[in-house]
Amino acid sequence: AFEVKLAGSGKTYAVAADQTVVQALQAQGIEILTSCEQGVCGTCITRVLDGECDHRDMYFTDEEKAKHDQFTPCCSRAKSAVLVLDL
Ligand code: FES
Repeated sequence: AFEVKLAGSGKTYAVAADQTVVQALQAQGIEILTSCEQGVCGTCITRVLDGECDHRDMYFTDEEKAKHDQFTPCCSRAKSAVLVLDL
């Protein structure tokens, strides 16, 4: 499990092992627009301000993934304990 921190509100939310970032935030009333929910379409792309992503999508190139400045919260996770999102 890991946590996501929203830059806008400063609030932190836990993401359980059996849920996606999108699901964890949705449970708190925070909606992220999704479509494929499989890391293919890019609809859910969210900017990452801090932390290391565990990219599970097929959308970004390896070069883009290495920057850790955006990710697909419908399927990707975190390698660091906390991901700070531009939300
Ligand atoms: Fe398609 Fe996340 S909803 S990549």
